[in-house]
Amino acid sequence: MRTLHSLESDASAAPAAPVLQSRQHESAQRHVSGSARYVDDLPLPTGTLHLAIGMSEVAHATLDALDLEAVRRAPGVVCVLSAADIPGHSDVGPVFPGDPLLVSDIISHHGQALFVVAADSERAARQAARLAKVATTPLPVCLDPREAANRGDLVRPTHTQARLANGRAGDLDSISNKLAKSAWQLSGELESGGQEHFYLESQAALALPGEDDEMLVHSSSQHPSEVQKLIAEVLGVPFHAITVETRRMGGGFGGKETQAAPVACLAAMIARRTGRAARLRLARADDMRLTGKRHPFHHRYEFGVDDSGRIESAIIELTGDCGHSPDLSDAIVDRAMFHADNAYYLGNAHVRGIRARTNVASNTAFRGFGGPQGMLAVESAMEDIARRLGRDPLEIRKRNLYCEGRETTHYGQHVNQHPLLATLIDQLEDSGRYWARRAEIRAFNAANPVVRKGLALTPVKFGISFTAKHFNQAGALVHVYTDGSVQVNHGGTEMGQGLHTKITQVAARELGLSVDKVRITATRTDKVPNTSPTAASSGADLNGMATRDACLRLKMRLLDFAAEHLAQPRVSLSLTDGELHGPSGVLMTWGELIQAAYLERISLSDKGFYATPDIHYDRASGTGHPFYYYAFGAALCEVVVDTLSGEYRLESAEILHDVGDSLNPAIDIGQIEGGFVQGMGWLTTEELKWNEDGRLLTDGPATYKIPAISDVPAGALKVRLLEGHPNSAASIYRSKAVGEPPFMLAISVWAALRDALASLTDYRRAVRLDTPATPERVMLAAREQRDWQEQHDTAGAEPTQVPS
Ligand code: MTE
Ligand code: HPA
Ligand code: MOS
Repeated sequence: MRTLHSLESDASAAPAAPVLQSRQHESAQRHVSGSARYVDDLPLPTGTLHLAIGMSEVAHATLDALDLEAVRRAPGVVCVLSAADIPGHSDVGPVFPGDPLLVSDIISHHGQALFVVAADSERAARQAARLAKVATTPLPVCLDPREAANRGDLVRPTHTQARLANGRAGDLDSISNKLAKSAWQLSGELESGGQEHFYLESQAALALPGEDDEMLVHSSSQHPSEVQKLIAEVLGVPFHAITVETRRMGGGFGGKETQAAPVACLAAMIARRTGRAARLRLARADDMRLTGKRHPFHHRYEFGVDDSGRIESAIIELTGDCGHSPDLSDAIVDRAMFHADNAYYLGNAHVRGIRARTNVASNTAFRGFGGPQGMLAVESAMEDIARRLGRDPLEIRKRNLYCEGRETTHYGQHVNQHPLLATLIDQLEDSGRYWARRAEIRAFNAANPVVRKGLALTPVKFGISFTAKHFNQAGALVHVYTDGSVQVNHGGTEMGQGLHTKITQVAARELGLSVDKVRITATRTDKVPNTSPTAASSGADLNGMATRDACLRLKMRLLDFAAEHLAQPRVSLSLTDGELHGPSGVLMTWGELIQAAYLERISLSDKGFYATPDIHYDRASGTGHPFYYYAFGAALCEVVVDTLSGEYRLESAEILHDVGDSLNPAIDIGQIEGGFVQGMGWLTTEELKWNEDGRLLTDGPATYKIPAISDVPAGALKVRLLEGHPNSAASIYRSKAVGEPPFMLAISVWAALRDALASLTDYRRAVRLDTPATPERVMLAAREQRDWQEQHDTAGAEPTQVPS
């Protein structure tokens, strides 16, 4: 039997148009004209009910009584449901239990859902939701993950990766001993803050009841299949009764991987109970109080370093603040551990990840999925080492990059294409005039007592694949209609990242058509079943391959048919530019071929499937090959800081990023810009605050500061794609995933702030700078540096060279 591969050798075949081309986002016009429909824009059937959630006003308590009489009697209210009304499963934990859809006994965070109200208008529902009488008995509120960890209150067990430089398994004792033998020992601590997703579209769902137990639910979700499963379980009906549709999200950023489901389940419950359509769209403040965020982390590190600044041993302890339940925290803290090395070879390494339980909303996926947090310790240490040894941080970073002979991670995976790290840094060092600017900045700082500049060039290495192996699969469904137009459906969801645009390009290329012949339809669980979340940056990798597979099957069948129909040698036939080509030129148009095939009763529809090869991870030993490949990048940033007020500005950012052979350079550059700026928000201005009772104080844009256009350096955010380095793994057309990796390029902004602060001590001391590095924190760090400088006022002294 002929294999698909005899048609198109492999995915690495030199891609032609319309891939490797900048194409505007499939919905660009609709986005800017306002005609793109989000869940809240869908026309509503007559009698649609509007929902609001009754939320807890305390963070930790037993729920003794829930008196909903006043809510039921409020004007416009049609139905009020609480935990006792859930027909099926009441726990909607995505992987492990712990997430009650509605609280029945123990309240575990402020803002947790207690009941749901359905009314004739959204306003009526929201007003009625405030009328409940809730009787509770307080329990102690824990908001400090380290305190929780010390008490052993964890949402999941602690996990460790420990590996010696010689490749053998290590343990804390052996690695501590080795660390103690290095010429230098450095240790430090750091706190990193969480991050609100601040998707423009809040969590939303519209449930449309059908006949009997059937239901169609529109959900703003990155994971429609999980929403389908959870609705079915909550209602106690088979999965096949429930269809979930997602046309697009107004941003997801990880916040709609698991946490879109409860909103959809509540809408479905009301729709089932009342037989009427039900819509739930969270108000911004409610969304911020109810849903989880990026995990704050506590980072502790010890490094053993040689005289040249090379790391020989590392002990890193990462404590994630998981909130009240597991959600995805097992995988998130794992990914933090997988990225504790960032781009550097650690030698003997002991990495431990702790999952602490606190009384806040359950923290969840957020762009980078723990990876950004994981990298902070080693990036902090790069500057610590540099100051201790009196070297430039860039020199230390370069010395520690993965390289020949030092190319295996602390979990035993060989880093393919690691030389790209040095390539990226070298190119930026040149194009950004690093050393000339370093000299200019030193001169500027010497002349300016208050306003100081800082510079930093930092790399990123990010592992691509879900670390939960079973998620690394995808399906696609391709239909050709008799007018020759093509409809593609695949398991991925569109959240603004341009996935559907890229998939359109893949299908068009495989079928030899222009992109306007191909339309992607809304993601639906009844078209492609059992899909993975669109996450881990793998949407285009997985669904691109599945779509390609479906198209190749279709194409093979069409060419087989054409060979017979036209009596032409099969091998001489090809489909390009909307035409069937044979030995003597064009034989028919695509439209004619489709018509002929239809009349001859050839199927014009097919499905495709893909599963990522070569990945495995043994969690028991903490070793394996969890990532199909790595994506790399580097960023060079300059900041200016008023060291008295703590105010600062990003002056310029130059980014060079590796996307292999880009599927769509315009979209990829947009992802890099957006990821970088979002990362900058995480590390600088986005600060979440709770009061001691566990109430979120920063529950809207007035108190929670996301980056604005004015925070982006005017004309000085430069993004380039690394060219001429296709993915060494056989990914779709040798491209690389782009969604998350650029987020971590923003670490250069934080590093540049620390660089500016180091100038206050003549670059002799690295200051701890917790994140978000708000102006307040920068001001306090500057004060600390000045105090240190006064105490160590040894004008002209060399940096200390004495091993500690
Ligand atoms: N870009 C936009 N515009 N909106 C988003 O919500 N999510 C990010 C990233 N880029 C996001 C985005 C996250 S967290 C991921 S995992 C990827 O997109 C998911 O899409 P992909 O796998 O198709 O890259
Ligand atoms: N990344 C993003 N989402 C996920 C992952 C991952 O590695 N695993 C499970 N959900
Ligand atoms: Mo992205 S955090 O993997 O949804």
